[in-house]
Amino acid sequence: MKPLTMLAAALATALSTHAALSADDSLYKRLGGYDAIAAVTDDFLHRLEGDEKLGRFFLGLSDDSVARIRQHLIDLVCFSTGGPCAYTGRDMKTTHKGIDITADDWQRMLARFGETMAEFKVPEKEQHELGAIVAPLEKDIVAKKG
Ligand code: HEM
Repeated sequence: MKPLTMLAAALATALSTHAALSADDSLYKRLGGYDAIAAVTDDFLHRLEGDEKLGRFFLGLSDDSVARIRQHLIDLVCFSTGGPCAYTGRDMKTTHKGIDITADDWQRMLARFGETMAEFKVPEKEQHELGAIVAPLEKDIVAKKG
């Protein structure tokens, strides 16, 4: 086989392997990998910042602080869905302690999350799997009353 033909054959194999996603693939892979997760994170963060109640949490942050939160969030989602990332940020309890996130804020965040899922046409199965990763974090993120 000529080198170019070999290259074309290798490329065809790679593409078909990529196209054939199976249910056994990691959630990370089924979501479309790193770039897709980064795009979803950007959309979600913009919705949080633009939300009339949640926007207050992001006031007064420098561009670099927002960029740091964004990168930590991408790494956390990437890592939690089985991707090749390490999460080096703080734990959820420490990160959100003292900013008084309420149960209502949490519901609003879930609503914005749902909008992002719809915007990116994330299939229901993957939405549920992501939801199952986020749900247990509520007890560490929402402030305890009293
Ligand atoms: C109503 C819900 C939420 C609000 C209002 C909120 C707000 C914030 C704010 C204001 C910060 C910056 C804190 C600081 O640096 O002083 C932050 C950081 C962060 N949040 Fe949230 N958050 C929410 C939910 C979540 C959820 C569900 C996740 C995970 C899926 C998450 C993951 C993170 C991460 C990874 C950081 C950066 C950690 C670090 O800097 O070490 N947050 N959040």
